[in-house]
Order: sequence, then C-alpha cells, then structure tokens
Amino acid sequence: MNIALVILAAGKGTRMDSDLPKVLHPIAQVSMLVHAMRAGAALDPEQVVVVAGHGADAVRKAAEDENETAQIVLQTEQLGTAHAVGQARAALDGFRGDVVVLYGDTPFIRPETLERMIAARRSHDLVVLGFEAADPARYGRLVLDGETLERIVEFKDANDAERALTLCNSGLIACDAAVLFDLISAVGNDNASGEYYLTDIVALARARGLSATAVTCDESETMGVNSRAELARAEAIFQARARAELLDAGVTLMAPETVHLAQDTVIGRDSVIEPNVVFGPGVTVESGATIRAFSHLEGCHVSRGAVIGPYARLRPGAELAEHAKVGNFVEIKNARIDERAKVNHLSYVGDAHVGAAANIGAGTITCNYDGVMKHHTRIGAGAFIGSNTMLVAPVQIGAGAMTASGSVITRNVEDDALALARAPQQNKPGRVSKLFDMLKAKKARRDKEQS
Ligand code: UD1
Ligand code: MG
Repeated sequence: MNIALVILAAGKGTRMDSDLPKVLHPIAQVSMLVHAMRAGAALDPEQVVVVAGHGADAVRKAAEDENETAQIVLQTEQLGTAHAVGQARAALDGFRGDVVVLYGDTPFIRPETLERMIAARRSHDLVVLGFEAADPARYGRLVLDGETLERIVEFKDANDAERALTLCNSGLIACDAAVLFDLISAVGNDNASGEYYLTDIVALARARGLSATAVTCDESETMGVNSRAELARAEAIFQARARAELLDAGVTLMAPETVHLAQDTVIGRDSVIEPNVVFGPGVTVESGATIRAFSHLEGCHVSRGAVIGPYARLRPGAELAEHAKVGNFVEIKNARIDERAKVNHLSYVGDAHVGAAANIGAGTITCNYDGVMKHHTRIGAGAFIGSNTMLVAPVQIGAGAMTASGSVITRNVEDDALALARAPQQNKPGRVSKLFDMLKAKKARRDKEQS
C-alpha cells in the first residue's frame, strides 16, 4: 500500500520560551522533527508532507536536509489539528493510498507501532493510536464500543464520565487519503477551543457507516515535549534506552550514565566505551574498538581494534582504519588514518591521509588552512613525523620518509628521505654566566640613576 506522511509542525511551542521552533529542539542531537521523520521513514512513504507555521523557514531547511523530497506546506494561522492536516490536501493531490498523521513534537514513536497501525487499516477505515495514560490529564479520550472507536472527546469538551476514561489519544491516525480529506472538509469549530479538531473525524466517519478502531502503544512512545523540563526528561529517557540497547548488544559501557549517544550512534559488539564519552551525530564504531575516557566523536568511522583517547576529538570525516591509534589531545578532521598508524599526542590532523603504520610525533600540526582555502596533506605508509612538525599544506611526505622534530615542512619529501627544516643549533660555552654578569651590571647602573 502507498503511504504518505503528514507531520504536524506548525505550533509555536509557547512553553519552550524559545526563538527556535519547538520541533527543531534536539533530543540526542537530532531535532524532534527528524526523529518523527525517521520513525515514519520505516513505512517507506511515497510522500512526506511537513505542515509548518512558526519558524517555517528553519523547519523547511531541517526537513529538506533530512529528506530532500519532503514537501513543506504552510499553515499561517494555527486553527487546529484538522485545519493543519487540511493544508496538506493540495500537496497530496493525485496521491492514492493511506495518510499517516504524525506530530513533530512526539519523537519516540516506534516504527513497529506505525506498522501495527497500517496492519489494522486492513480491517478498519480509520485507525487511531491510543495509550493507557497513568495521568490522563488534558489528553483527548477515546470512546470505544468493543473494538469500535465511536469518537474522541477533547478534555475541554468532555463530561465527567468521559474524563474518567484513561485510554487517551496520541494524535496519530491512519486513513485513506481521499476519505481523510473528505472527512476533514466536514469538521467544524463549534467547541470549547473554537478549533478545528482532527479528532472530530472519528464521529463523522462513524456517522457515515465507516469503521474506526484504536491501536494502542506504551505511553512512553507518545510522550510529547512542551517545555524545557520535558525536553530534558525526553533526553534522559532516550539516553537511558539507547544505553540499555548497547549493553544488550554486547557493548561495554564502563559508566553508562556518563556516555551520551546520538540518535544514530552505531557501536559494534565487544567495543569498550570508557566514562564520559560524547557521541555527536553520524558516528559508527566497529566491533572491538576502544573509546577511552573524555573523548568526543562526531561524523566519523572507527574500525575494528582501533583505540581512541583518552581526551581525543574526532570530527566529521575522520576515518580510522583497523588498529589505528589516536591518543590524548589529538583532533582529527576530514582525514583517513590507515591501519596501525599512530597519532598519539597533542596533534591536529585535518584534510589529510596518513598511510599505514605511519607514526605522527607529538605536537604535529597539518597547517591546512591559509585563511581562504583548505589544503591537503598526504603522509605515506611507514613515515615518521618528528615531534612538533608543521606540515604546511598542500604537501606530501613519501612512504618511509622522516621529518626532523621542530621542522616546518613546506615542500614535498620523497620516499625514504629525511627532511630537516629548522634553524641549526649553536652552543656557546660559558656564555650564560657572562650574560648574567652583564645584565646584573646594567640593572645596578639603572638603580643608581633612579635613587
Ligand atoms: C491533541 C489532540 C488530543 C491528543 C493530544 C496528544 C486534537 C484536537 N487534540 O491535543 O486529542 O490527546 O494532541 O498530544 O487533535 N498543530 C499544528 N497546527 C495547528 C494545531 C496544532 O501544526 O493548528 C500541531 C502542533 O504543533 C502539535 C500538534 O499539532 O505538534 C498537536 O497540537 P496541540 O495543540 O498540541 O494539540 P493538543 O491540544 O495537545
Ligand atoms: Mg499538545
């Protein structure tokens, strides 16, 4: 069956008290909107429509960065959830299949739950996702008759008996596109909020003899985020769950609660993650790697048997081959470090390729930026870069070559050559005491002049 996602993301999120639209606040380094898009992507949708309003330009950019075919439609006035879905009508003109409505501020929906909704569509015209709420508070209530969902009543419009119901509306629905837009056309706003409620389509569908039912999920999946406190709680829930999954998958986390993961972090089994490691977006760590304490990784790939840190920083484009070693206070950016190469201390390696088993001495810097452009450094296999070498890119060091420590290398070095590029040393015997005698005499003269 063809699926189109409609993701509601127009709301202001007043309680966030933020210039950033609510749906762009991140959990595990990825915006809530992108969490919702990724959950929905599991349904392999033909179209993805994001309904934007507040901060629409920023929402558009985030949505398109995640999925370049995403369509963004504007809801300039937020007149209610039915009105919001209605804005997707033109974008879905000609689409045949099911629409799944998601909320941009509900990041924890699991793909399996969406699949269960789609499965339930085989036997019902309209499927709503509900959950048993520990505290039903102000959620809409699902009014069921056996398996049949008769209507949804919003808290503000509910009577006492309805408020006593604990099965609540998550907001997610699945319905044939043509049927959905037809029902939405019939929704009015004569209710306690004066809004066009999407929830009204259930009673409208039943009145037309269509069938409706509820699929349920765990409350934790439908958690919405409305304030910074809820955002922090959502982050904590995400982290706890992601750490538990890694532990279950055979990854050692020495102090799990101090390891911060991104939504897309991948770590292979038998890897060891020491305390206080932060994973930014786009990190893959293969099996059997070791990430030592206080390291920060983003947009990088660490191969089997590599050892990183303590205190290492891997930035986007860092590609570490098997058994590579990156030690303390080393930063790697957009660089390939081949098998068994070592960059062990206090170095910056950016826009570079370090050959297999090369040894990069302490304090080596690839000087990659001339203030306008970035340039590449290539270090051959087995090369030995002496401590405190400045490699002024673009530059190439041949295989098996060596640079003397303290060198400033501005020209290519051929294979097996030794490059020396530093001022020669001169020793002056006995010169220190003479120098001090001269300085002390000078000071004595000045003191006398000033007294
Ligand atoms: C809605 C449901 C309620 C459900 C609850 C779950 C309705 C009428 N009520 O209530 O039954 O229990 O969610 O959290 O649907 N939005 C727009 N444009 C609008 C209005 C809303 O894009 O005009 C977006 C919001 O940004 C948000 C989502 O839709 O992401 C839900 O809107 P919200 O106002 O939070 O609805 P609730 O009152 O919470
Ligand atoms: Mg809400």
